[in-house]
Amino acid sequence: MIVLFFAVTTPFVPLIAESAIEDFKAVANYDERNVRPYSLPNPLLSNDGKKIANVQDWIGIRRPEILKLFEQNVYGVSPSRPANMTFSVVTDEMVFAKKARRRKIKVLVKTSQGSKAFHFELVTPNPKTPSPVILGLNFKDDLSNWPLEKILERGFGVAGIPYVEIQPDQPDSLSKGVAALYPELQQREDNFSAISAWAWGLSRAMDYLETDPQVDRKRVALIGHSRLAKAALWAAARDQRFFLVLANDSGEGGAALARRNFGETTRAINTRFPHWFAKTFRRFNDHEAQLPVDQHLLLALVAPRPVYVTSASEDLWGDPQGEFLGLKKAEPVYRLFGLQGLSIDRMPVSNSPVWASVAYHVRRGRHDLADYDWEQFLKFMKTRK
Ligand code: GCU
Repeated sequence: MIVLFFAVTTPFVPLIAESAIEDFKAVANYDERNVRPYSLPNPLLSNDGKKIANVQDWIGIRRPEILKLFEQNVYGVSPSRPANMTFSVVTDEMVFAKKARRRKIKVLVKTSQGSKAFHFELVTPNPKTPSPVILGLNFKDDLSNWPLEKILERGFGVAGIPYVEIQPDQPDSLSKGVAALYPELQQREDNFSAISAWAWGLSRAMDYLETDPQVDRKRVALIGHSRLAKAALWAAARDQRFFLVLANDSGEGGAALARRNFGETTRAINTRFPHWFAKTFRRFNDHEAQLPVDQHLLLALVAPRPVYVTSASEDLWGDPQGEFLGLKKAEPVYRLFGLQGLSIDRMPVSNSPVWASVAYHVRRGRHDLADYDWEQFLKFMKTRK
């Protein structure tokens, strides 16, 4: 209250991002008893009221319809695979006592508006056979924050893209990055947003990985943490070449249900990060009930491929319960494919992973991609053939 009063009565103090952060976090609801009732769009009912009762109708009718609703109302549209794109190997060396190969790959995209390059690092174990690869956007410009040796020892390769090379992460940044190559898509209300640009970058990395003999192209998994987990989910939803997705602490705009008023809200995310989503998404600030989708439908778009959703017990801003429920409410679509949902209906206690065709855990602790999360992800991947 005091903070709000201050902001309202001192118009000459610019409302900088930091003060906005505190405002939203201070006034958010963190009390389960204050969650208002809500009802979610039915994954198995088409826009015109047709019951979706088999895989064919899901693939032919409902899946494309939901994808389009997310483009129009949440993440915006994306360009298709660029006609003019080249890959080049910038560095190539043997590492870890010659047990693994580390390369830096440059992706160069050209359109009539100019060109834009980004890089990613790819580290593969060095066997004769292709390896499954875990691909993710990374906050760092190298792989130093990921447990490289452990990943390699388990037989996986890993690739990381410094996400800001694809698209800067600042308000008003859509005239830069890859978004600037497609100015016509910025004229629209359902514009090519930053989350869409990051997701699109993942697909471009996949365009390369598919061609690499050291990569098992049928086993390229996505990983992401926080805003980068939102992007990983959107990438997996759109691009069915990805084998599975590991979405760590994805929160609002990720796995957490938008209609649940707990932690971060649509207004908070659109205000603090106006570039993340399409302009159309702002229409739903304080009006989440009018969204034609909710985040369970994003997870459903990944079906029948596995989706592993995680939360952190202290990450109330990300709404752990809402992330769990997002996953549970996607299960009807997995069942349509003859797959099983989680064996539980209630959120499990901390540090007790539950795995089925989808997977979930809440880790004890704060918002982070921790060793515990990596350990579960690697074990889970071992169970997927
Ligand atoms: C902010 C934002 C979240 C996001 C997080 C992150 O906290 O509100 O939605 O997940 O940043 O990316 O770390």
